[in-house]
Amino acid sequence: MSPAMTDHAADLLLANARLVLADRVIERGWVAVAGGAIVEIGEGKPPERGEDVTGDVIMPGLVELHTDHLEAHYVPRPKVYWDPIAAVVSYDGQIATSGITTVLDSLRVWREETVKSADGDAVKLAHAIGAARDADLLRCEHFLHLRCEIPMPGVVEEASELITRPDVRLASLMDHTPGQRQFRDQAKLRTYYRGKTGGMNDAELDRLFARRVELQKLNGETNHRTIVALAHQHKTPLASHDDTTAEHVAEAVRDGVAIAEFPTTFEAAAALHQAGIRVLMGAPNLVRDGSHSGNVASRELAGAGLLDILSSDYVPSSLLMAAMVMPEVVPGIDLAAAVRTVTKTPAEAVGLDDRGEIAPGKRADLIRVHRGAVPVVRCVWRQGRRVA
Ligand SMILES: [Fe+2]
Repeated sequence: MSPAMTDHAADLLLANARLVLADRVIERGWVAVAGGAIVEIGEGKPPERGEDVTGDVIMPGLVELHTDHLEAHYVPRPKVYWDPIAAVVSYDGQIATSGITTVLDSLRVWREETVKSADGDAVKLAHAIGAARDADLLRCEHFLHLRCEIPMPGVVEEASELITRPDVRLASLMDHTPGQRQFRDQAKLRTYYRGKTGGMNDAELDRLFARRVELQKLNGETNHRTIVALAHQHKTPLASHDDTTAEHVAEAVRDGVAIAEFPTTFEAAAALHQAGIRVLMGAPNLVRDGSHSGNVASRELAGAGLLDILSSDYVPSSLLMAAMVMPEVVPGIDLAAAVRTVTKTPAEAVGLDDRGEIAPGKRADLIRVHRGAVPVVRCVWRQGRRVA
């Protein structure tokens, strides 16, 4: 019996596991948990009888920095708004069964004229997340990611209201003005907006796009400076979004961003990574092998060693799928490295150093994964407590 286990009897002992550590995989091992933390790991058979996980993979609970999937539960049909707490609870269930134990709920902190969706309901949703958390209704640990569409009127006011919340862990600087960044391709932009707006015609889209260009001219620079200052003042980590050019990279460096979300070109990703900014790419892009907006492929960046973090973006289950498939499709990436992109690296990027790794002293946020045609999450523990 090891000293750690004699001192404190294990609350949970998982045996016969394929353990994914931060830098290697133990093909057959065990992990002991006590008081919500990992206390010991080992190879072969455990010192006591544990729960036999029959050779399934045990890895850290996934850490998701950018998912807007709450919106799908809150606005399940165009213009149909579900009870926000019920939406948070059902969304949380889906996030947990996707293997995610820590999630930054991405909220759009602006309202787009003429577009009816979750835009501008950030305060209401943040309140619902807080209420559900306080009532112990949630399986995952939830934080907020404030998505700031910089040119929008009202974005500074709404961000100022929200950023004082202690659960805000990230703010991103976005600019989806037509012709820019993610939306350099006007045809893709039109397809995207038609889906989002429930079928605007070309003349309506022309008016909307002209308005967006006008707003960027009016507000872009001032809002950008103000939001960056606000984030620094509140010590909120910042993310840049859809960086495309050398100018965007220089701006990200100047702004002191911690994370670059979805750079759209290989050149931008390389320069950002070189500058010590963690490059975050979409897991759906990696699984599908291509970007829905026609931008750079996650696999290409991963193969070049430029991909630091994966995010499930709009498909929660894609995070685990991408981590499991990456060693097979990206030369030079083993399972431990793939899993780091969805656990340790995102956790550290937003200052959550207590999790994201199977190691003594870390939080016992663990998932059991069975490999079938697709990976299936069999069990989820948060701080040693079974939550799914
Ligand atoms: Fe974008």
